[in-house]
Amino acid sequence: MTPDSKPHADFRDLLEALCHVWGPSGHEDRVRALLLELIAPHVDETRVDALGNLIAVRHAAAGGAKGTGVEAPRIMVAAHMDEIGVVVTHVDQDGFLRFGPVGGILTGNLIGTRVTFEDGTVGVIGAEKRADQAKAPTLDELFIDVGADDAAAVTQRVGDMAAFHHRLDWSGGRPIAPNHDDRIGCVMLVAALRRFKPGPNTLVAVFSTQEEVGTRGAETAAYGVAPQLAIALDITGAGDTPKAPPLALKLGAGAAVKVKDGGMIASPALRRLMEERAQAAGIPYQLEVLTGGTTDARAMQTSRAGVPAGAISVPTRYGHSPSQVIDLADVQAGVDLLLALLEGDVSGLLGSGLTGSGMTGAG
Ligand code: CO
Ligand code: ZN
Repeated sequence: MTPDSKPHADFRDLLEALCHVWGPSGHEDRVRALLLELIAPHVDETRVDALGNLIAVRHAAAGGAKGTGVEAPRIMVAAHMDEIGVVVTHVDQDGFLRFGPVGGILTGNLIGTRVTFEDGTVGVIGAEKRADQAKAPTLDELFIDVGADDAAAVTQRVGDMAAFHHRLDWSGGRPIAPNHDDRIGCVMLVAALRRFKPGPNTLVAVFSTQEEVGTRGAETAAYGVAPQLAIALDITGAGDTPKAPPLALKLGAGAAVKVKDGGMIASPALRRLMEERAQAAGIPYQLEVLTGGTTDARAMQTSRAGVPAGAISVPTRYGHSPSQVIDLADVQAGVDLLLALLEGDVSGLLGSGLTGSGMTGAG
């Protein structure tokens, strides 16, 4: 912790900036523009690929791995820019918008939730009368009320997306926002780029697109980057609320080192190295086994001929709801752990990448 009067002041500032930017899946332009501004002074190269991923390279120290002239290991670290939301499927006669999901929407969370469209229009989600009011509504029992008296007064069109209304509050020192998933991963990656000291490894930071609809941005980014090691930064669950499903993750107890989730088994060697580095540096961590869900790590792990991959996660209460809660101590631990990995020797874990494999079309 810095001697700053406000603990985690950097994270607070970055979060304030990033949580207020609109960016449902496939519409990450504003998030990307802000990130580009934030990282430009701290990277050697940037590019944007066809899916909109922002790819930034921070080269290893001159001379390559251990000063041997051999190309330094390429480590891809991904955080996704997109957030969950809704998409207009139909505007009814009375001016109510019917919608479908963009990513994993939990209908039980939605009644009374405010959503914001790209042009700033705010709507509120309402529900039809249902036979069993105690049950979560289905998507087709819900609508968005944008204050229009009839269809003619509606400016939204089929295909327009909305995100949960952006608002960042603080409760007991913990930030609450609808899009910690995964702006907090972006915050961590920006913070890591700011602190990164060139050493034995090249860091390829990828701010990815369309994670919430199936880790699609990371898929093409990983193909293009062809990393030898890959790490995702994302949220996970927490099991520390009343009658929570059993989950050994607690807010404030440290960075979550992924062992497994619904889509992948993290590379055991990478997971062990994360634990070793955390122990050596006194960084608090906890092990993550999540039964559902996955992250960009899955897409990176299965790209090309396969890449050793893992994830550093931030325990989160009420994930995919309009009020996600995290603890900045876990964010701090995650950045510290990421840097301990990036700045140390990882040569024992590397996948082949493309070097010397005789593959054609590499690049
Ligand atoms: Co998510
Ligand atoms: Zn996420």
